[in-house]
Amino acid sequence: MIATNIPAIPENAPFTPDQRAWLNGFLAGLFSSAPQQATAAQTRSLHFGVYFATQSGTAERLAKKMAKELRAKGHTAEVLSLEKTTVAKLAAEENAVFFTSTYGEGDPPDDAKSFRDALFSESTPVLTSLRYAMFALGDRHYEHFCKFGIDIDERLQQLGATPILPRIESDVEVDEPFSQWTKELAARLAKAPTDASAGPIAAVVAPTRVEPEHDHGRDNPFHAELRERVPLTSDVSSKLTMHLSFGLEDSPVHYSAGDACGVIAQNDPALVAEILSLMPFSASAQVSVPKLGSFTIEEALLHHLQPTRLTRKMVEAFAEKAMCKKLSALLPPDQASHLEAYLYDRDLVDLLLDCPGVITSPEDLVALLPKLAPRLYSISSSPAAHGREVHCTVAVVRYRAHNRERAGVASAMLADRVSVGSRLPIYIQPNKRFRLPADGDAPMIMIGPGTGIAPFRSFLHERQALGHKGRNWLFFGERSAESDFLYRRELQSMCDDGHLTRLDTAFSRDQAHKVYVQDRMREHGAEMWRWLNDGAQVFVCGDASRMAKDVDAALHSVVEKHGGMDAENAREYVSQLHEDRRYHRDVY
Ligand SMILES: Cc1cc2nc3c(=O)[nH]c(=O)nc-3n(C[C@H](O)[C@H](O)[C@H](O)COP(=O)(O)OP(=O)(O)OC[C@H]3O[C@@H](n4cnc5c(N)ncnc54)[C@H](O)[C@@H]3O)c2cc1C
Ligand SMILES: NC(=O)c1ccc[n+]([C@@H]2O[C@H](COP(=O)([O-])OP(=O)(O)OC[C@H]3O[C@@H](n4cnc5c(N)ncnc54)[C@H](OP(=O)(O)O)[C@@H]3O)[C@@H](O)[C@H]2O)c1
Ligand SMILES: Cc1cc2nc3c(=O)[nH]c(=O)nc-3n(C[C@H](O)[C@H](O)[C@H](O)COP(=O)(O)O)c2cc1C
Repeated sequence: MIATNIPAIPENAPFTPDQRAWLNGFLAGLFSSAPQQATAAQTRSLHFGVYFATQSGTAERLAKKMAKELRAKGHTAEVLSLEKTTVAKLAAEENAVFFTSTYGEGDPPDDAKSFRDALFSESTPVLTSLRYAMFALGDRHYEHFCKFGIDIDERLQQLGATPILPRIESDVEVDEPFSQWTKELAARLAKAPTDASAGPIAAVVAPTRVEPEHDHGRDNPFHAELRERVPLTSDVSSKLTMHLSFGLEDSPVHYSAGDACGVIAQNDPALVAEILSLMPFSASAQVSVPKLGSFTIEEALLHHLQPTRLTRKMVEAFAEKAMCKKLSALLPPDQASHLEAYLYDRDLVDLLLDCPGVITSPEDLVALLPKLAPRLYSISSSPAAHGREVHCTVAVVRYRAHNRERAGVASAMLADRVSVGSRLPIYIQPNKRFRLPADGDAPMIMIGPGTGIAPFRSFLHERQALGHKGRNWLFFGERSAESDFLYRRELQSMCDDGHLTRLDTAFSRDQAHKVYVQDRMREHGAEMWRWLNDGAQVFVCGDASRMAKDVDAALHSVVEKHGGMDAENAREYVSQLHEDRRYHRDVY
């Protein structure tokens, strides 16, 4: 092993990368505590590109830590976002380490989409000089666990790159797998730095970490008291959105404005009873749920399995086992939109009714159903203003489809099945890329229709409590001003005292045609452009499926029209906003 206490030439020392690499190698040789017979290879300094793709900051944090560790071992390392990386740059690289998380249906984080497209295009150069290591971040509760990292890893090998060690697929608790994997990487580099890849390399799946008592992550949540639950929409509204407050006084849990609160949900006992009534076995039949333990099937359905969100895998299994033509017809690639529509508003009961007889044992259910994932809610309180409380703004999912009333697991549980005064398992999910500007004088433009208002209520209170003087502009949209103007009084009072410099609202259903926040952005485009020129940071929160895309298009058109740019230059301008950390999105 290379000694770990070898001095390294600082990044800002007046040397070229080659000179620094040579000097680091020299120092490594000089200070190495390894025996005399250590080979030259053991002390050779290498240059690494340490690449990351992140949405909420974890992959970036690990990339920076990795670079530090590599430098401490006498190598040089440059930390780079995949957002700014071209495949040509990779082709020129000899050693790289990747940290990539996964979102959506196994998609990359927003910033890495162009890189993914470029890497998978037909004109990609070969990468035969590249040796690399892949740390994939994900969450075992999702169907496409670590998929983006896996895709990149497989594509790099297809293009001729050589893995230095097996890819790691890490669950959300990344620190323990990271430190083990880093040691393994160091050992590989020390052993055979120029030919580390003898034989085929298989992926390693990190064991789930047992957290220390005080961590209160998702595997060890804090049972917080539900202090308050008040409707933010009125009785005549077509929807229910609620304000919730949890008490943190008796816990070590801390959060920052911009973070989300994770809620460990339970399925509706009535739905579980309905499912069990369609099964040929009893509710008390024992079943083992991988990594979680042994339960009755009723307990497993209540706490650990997710019967309300269907996946392609489930439809495939039912289609095959029941030889069901209706379901098989949804599976060819050209039927993707029909499959999506089928999955959107159905649940396990629909599948059981459409194709009876497929499930014959409790084990079948465990094999088929995804694990029940915690639900995240952007925190709407501010640590500075609200002390030891966490507030959430929750829209309750209820709808009728295919002759049954349906409800979202967590939002309906929070509305109907827990009482004020009871305790609920929650944890904080940090969102390091969605933070108030460090400069309290920087102007902020916040676009948050619906529950997208949540983090902006937090930001506004936090800035007020901290005495930040920067201008604040909020775009808010909902169905109707009369019944759905969330936090109306608070916002109006912030307008009155000048803390909220501008509040522009779009009530979509108060007139014959729809009006959305992006229409207001276009209407006030000239003023928005002035704010951007004054250094404003732009924040977007809320629905990802349509709103965030439409708001992004509106931002491009404001820049184009009022900045006097063509479409290409406007794209570059917005991409520069991203790079400068002045355009942030928290969308779901
Ligand atoms: C980072 C982050 C922050 C979030 N912040 C917030 C927040 O501040 N406030 C908030 O309310 N939510 C927020 N969410 C969403 C939240 O986590 C849940 O996804 C949401 O509450 C629904 O969960 P559920 O368990 O109630 O519903 P689920 O049981 O998960 O059911 C939702 C599913 O029901 C179906 N469905 C939903 N509506 C309809 C409909 N009208 N017709 C047909 N089918 C439908 C869809 O298939 C949908 O996937 C956030 C999500 C993320 C990832
Ligand atoms: N079905 C339900 O009962 C239900 C309830 C709550 C939440 N949800 C889901 O939960 C998520 C969050 O919901 P939410 O309560 O925060 O609010 P939301 O459903 O996102 O709606 C907030 C406002 O945004 C408008 N809107 C719709 N499409 C838009 C677009 N393309 N661009 C800009 N604004 C748009 C809505 O108008 P219009 O609705 O008038 O078009 C409404 O005025 C959404 O994904 C939603 O699908 C569903
Ligand atoms: C909305 C959402 C969707 C996600 N989808 C997936 C997924 O499909 N597969 C997966 O393995 N992890 C998924 N994750 C988990 C993240 O990849 C994981 O939390 C990761 O550690 C985040 O890293 P980051 O902070 O660098 O973005 C999802 C997380 C969120 C909030």
